[in-house]
Parts: sequence; C-alpha cells; structure tokens
Amino acid sequence: MATVKLRDLRKSYGDVEVIKGVDIDIADGEFVVFVGPSGCGKSTLLRMIAGLEDITDGTLEIDGQRVNDLEPSKRGIAMVFQSYAIFPHMTVRENVAFGLTINKASKAEKEEKVAEAARILQMEHLLDRRPSELSGGQRQRVAIGRAIVRDPKVFLFDEPLSNLDAALRMDMRMEIGKLHQDLDASMIYVTHDQVEAMTLADKIVVLKDGKVMQIGAPMELYHEPANLFVAGFLGAPSMNFLDVTVHAVNDTTVTISSDSLDQIDVPHKGRSFTVGQAATLGVRPQYLHPAADEVGRLHGKVILTERLGSETVIDIGLADGSKVIAALAEDSIQIAGTDVNLDFDPNQAHIFPETR
Ligand SMILES: Nc1ncnc2c1ncn2[C@@H]1O[C@H](COP(=O)(O)OP(=O)(O)O)[C@@H](O)[C@H]1O
Ligand SMILES: [Mg+2]
Repeated sequence: MATVKLRDLRKSYGDVEVIKGVDIDIADGEFVVFVGPSGCGKSTLLRMIAGLEDITDGTLEIDGQRVNDLEPSKRGIAMVFQSYAIFPHMTVRENVAFGLTINKASKAEKEEKVAEAARILQMEHLLDRRPSELSGGQRQRVAIGRAIVRDPKVFLFDEPLSNLDAALRMDMRMEIGKLHQDLDASMIYVTHDQVEAMTLADKIVVLKDGKVMQIGAPMELYHEPANLFVAGFLGAPSMNFLDVTVHAVNDTTVTISSDSLDQIDVPHKGRSFTVGQAATLGVRPQYLHPAADEVGRLHGKVILTERLGSETVIDIGLADGSKVIAALAEDSIQIAGTDVNLDFDPNQAHIFPETR
C-alpha cells in the first residue's frame, strides 16, 4: 500500500502539451478513477505514474519519495492494460507467474503466490489451460492475477474492461471492486465510462484536455459539479441544460428565465454572475416532473415516452427548439404532441456562468 502524489505534472510531445499541470493526491488504500473523454490524457497520466512515459515537468511521489526518474520496475506498481497482453503459448499458471519467473523467484514462492492469486480471482480450475481456452473475462483475470503476484504497492488499470461485452463488464466491474476490498491496495483506474467511475471510485478525477476539471467523491461530483463539463459528463441520462438569461443577482441566488422557462431564483453557490448575461441552467432528468398547469415553470410538448420498467423517460421539446428529458419513477404515459408543464425544485438545479 502507498500514497501517490502528483504536483504540477506535465507532459509534452514536441511542442504539444498533453498533460497541463495536474495535481492529485491519492491516499493509502484509496480507489481513484481517472475519467474523461477519449484523448484527454488519461493513459498518458497513468503511464507517467508507471514510468512508461517520461515526465516533462512537475513532481511524482510514491510513499513520499520522488520517483520521477526511478525505473518502472523499482516503483512498486503493477499495471493492467485494456488488451490482456498474455502469452498464448503459456498456461494460465505460467502467465500469472511470469513476473516472478523473470525475477528468478523460487519454485515454492511462485507456487504459493500463484495459488493465492488464483484463489482471490476464483480461477484455480483454469490454471492448466492456455489463453485460447479462456473467455475474454477469464483472460482479463489472468492479466490481473499477474499483477497481484507482484504484490505491488499501487495497482494501475487502463480501461481493463473496455474489450468485454456489456454483461461481462458488469461482472468484472464488481470483481474489481471486491478485489480492492480484499487487497486493500491503492488503485488507480482509468476509464471513459462514467458508470465504472461512479460505481468503483472512492474518489473520481475528471479530466479534460490534459487538465483536472474536478476531484471528489462520486456523489459529491454528481450533486455538486464544479462546472458545465462535469455536470454533463456524470449521470445517466445526462443533465438537461437550458440557455437562460440572468435578470438579477443577490447574495445567494440568481433570477433567471428563458422563452420556455418562467422566472425563477436558483442558488448560485458563490459563482459570479452579472445582470443581463447568458448562462446555463442544469437540471437532472430525475428532478424534472410534470406539474399542474398553474405551477409548472417549464413549458413544452411531449415528443416521446419510453417506459424502461424501473423508470419512464419522457422527451420534451421546448419553444426554442431545445429538448429536455424527464425521468419519472412512476409509469406515466404522455401522448406525443401534448402540451406539458414541468416543475423542479430550484435547490436541485445548477446555474453555470458558462454557455454551451
Ligand atoms: N506518443 C505520442 N506522441 C504524440 N502524441 C501523443 C502520444 N501519445 C498520446 N498522444 C496524444 O496525447 C493526448 C492524450 O492521449 P491519451 O493519454 O492516450 O488519451 P486517453 O487515454 O485519455 O484517451 C492525445 O491527444 C494523443 O493524441
Ligand atoms: Mg487511453
């Protein structure tokens, strides 16, 4: 187990800076997920921690020691990649033991560690098979087993589940969560999948264009997104956004409206606004509900009703041509073309000074 500390970490390829000054603290035993769209720098950052990419600038510490220039094998980390990188000509046992064989571990040590990893990953019955005789999920377990036997201080995962089909991904996601509980090791897990981030993380780091957008516990980021990007990235269906105009600003709220939205006061949570400016209102689909005519604040027409069983999702077209989604717990059928008035609790809404 170990702490990991990134300070103003930077990476450039030639003139192009792809990691632009990143600060992250990872506590001992913490499960931290780096999430963000493709190309935002997640793999680069992970590879810099692993020692597979040079650090252009800044400081990387593992357990309080500066390791910028320490070679990968000395950092006490083990990495699991998206592609399993296991050897087809070796058995599962030989694959799992591979790192130990390279390090000339004794036969007894190899047997003991492979048995322990196989027990943790519930693959004792697979040890004598070759990779061609395994499913995708089982192969990924072999790759994880290979990391476990090295007894690393920090596990690094780079999109380990993205080659698996949806059902298997869910199973493996739970297995990785359980692995973290069992091993109690520090883990850094990269994904572009916000569901994996929400379900696995103690702490999520949202990245965009090589910069940190926000760091926090999953529900903290869900309920208190720091900006439009984080608000739109986490949660399914995604947060609804409305273009609005600011009419007044006071100590705790801003007064806003749009063609489709009656005037309303929304808490600004310390963000600064000026009267007359364009802004963006965010409301999650789960917090929008149909209201009686007189009290509805948001006016539109039903486009489509989708009953998913656990919830009913209604697409609503607004006067300005934009669309919002309401996710209702009850099974409520709304006929396409019907005028609908929606309401929401202003305390569940987010106002951002940015426009889309
Ligand atoms: N070896 C390289 N040379 C030049 N640019 C690179 C190299 N590796 C990655 N990049 C660029 O760095 C950015 C981040 O890439 P990457 O870390 O792979 O993103 P992610 O893992 O978030 O999808 C991308 O714009 C990518 O094109
Ligand atoms: Mg990547």
